[in-house]
Amino acid sequence: MTSNIDYIDKIPNNVDLGRDRVLQRALEHWQPAYMGWWYDMGPNESHNYDVYLRTAISVDAEGWAVFDYVKMPQYRWGIFLVPPTQGREVNFGVNKGQPAWQDVPGEYRSMLRRLIVTQGDTEPASVEQQRMLGMCAPSLYDLRNIYQVNVEEGRHLWAMVYLLHRYFGRDGREEAEALLDRRSGDVDNPRILGAFNEPTPDWLAFYMFTFFTDRDGKFQLSSLAESGFDPLARTCRFMLTEEAHHMFVGETGVGRIVQRTAEVMAENKVDDADHVRALGVIDLETVQRYLNFHYSVTLDLFGGDVSSNAASFYTTGLKGRYEETKIQDDHQLTDATYKVGTVKDGRVIDEEIPALNALNERLRDDYIGEVQAGVDRWNKVIEKTGVPFRLRLPHKSFHRQIGNFAGHHISPTGDVLTEKQWNAKRDEWLPSQADYTFVQAMMTGRVVEPGKFANWIAPPRRGVHTQPIDFEYVRFN
Ligand SMILES: [Fe+2]
Ligand SMILES: [Fe+2]
Repeated sequence: MTSNIDYIDKIPNNVDLGRDRVLQRALEHWQPAYMGWWYDMGPNESHNYDVYLRTAISVDAEGWAVFDYVKMPQYRWGIFLVPPTQGREVNFGVNKGQPAWQDVPGEYRSMLRRLIVTQGDTEPASVEQQRMLGMCAPSLYDLRNIYQVNVEEGRHLWAMVYLLHRYFGRDGREEAEALLDRRSGDVDNPRILGAFNEPTPDWLAFYMFTFFTDRDGKFQLSSLAESGFDPLARTCRFMLTEEAHHMFVGETGVGRIVQRTAEVMAENKVDDADHVRALGVIDLETVQRYLNFHYSVTLDLFGGDVSSNAASFYTTGLKGRYEETKIQDDHQLTDATYKVGTVKDGRVIDEEIPALNALNERLRDDYIGEVQAGVDRWNKVIEKTGVPFRLRLPHKSFHRQIGNFAGHHISPTGDVLTEKQWNAKRDEWLPSQADYTFVQAMMTGRVVEPGKFANWIAPPRRGVHTQPIDFEYVRFN
């Protein structure tokens, strides 16, 4: 095991794949199926483009990436784990203190496989959701960024498929094939989780998705990076370094949209949404509605507020809390309690439940803290222009389909309403068909001149890596 990656092998890796012939052959068999999926479901019409991408060359913190032009089908997807930590232990649950597992403990096999498959399924799903967006990119810089995100989500699929092939034998191989068969939004064979079957119809949705939903990815990967199953922990650690870029794309993307809108509003002294739209930028009310949508569907990804599955994942040592080893407690949670929200007598209230059953809610709360900080940064951008509008996270009970709030009709301020009251307000709170039509009408055709940006988005502060903003990030050939 080295931190340098072997690019001589057909499948780049730092796990000494060549030593396990059976595994290598199984993965080499899966590889053409993966490529078939990429050609079918990867970014539309992009196969011949030269894209200025980063590729992992080492798993070291410094210098893990090289930047160069790559045709995406030739991207070196591979298997990269951070090096093992000597003497690492299971750090929580009933097995706390045991040496970390290098193989799957038999009694946890199906639970662990389910965790890996559920995570793995999200990776190709987002590529499928985003595949048409390259056709209406606001700049070459943004086009390159979405392609970078897409190839790395493809690599994340490789990461999970490696674990399935290496540790789960025949059923692992079957799961790996099924990961290429499901399709985002397909009626008969959809992706596993709800948010990954929603369309990503435009670039505002894409930036919201990478800000909110890729960040769910970060929190899920972080808690899997605490796993007592060491290969899972090590692969998730490396995936997190890639995830950081996806969230950067989302945060700066939304930030540049609100910046542009607020600048145009200040310059023209308009604040009415229709007037703002007439100036060719996206009104902040529409941005707020997109935010409400993406935030609420992403909160559902964390699962039920009260969850015995989450308790089992934790007790067994398979999935920890966010930054588990930095938390000062017994890491068993035998007597601890945690607050979860619920609806009682027509009101949202908190109730204390055993902390072990509230682990989804705890992870969701950790997530919300980080999301709020990002929203605060967007508001600073708006504030600088003198425009008084502020973006707000809705109450976490708003528009939920999973957990204690599912089936209730709750406003963004957390008031429980009747279905009729809620429906009357729906288009104020969530994007309407008219909003989508308006946003998509701005995003017909893509901007291909280096250094040029669509009217509805501000340029970034700097380019990619060491390149200037007007660099030719994508060559169409
Ligand atoms: Fe990912
Ligand atoms: Fe991601």
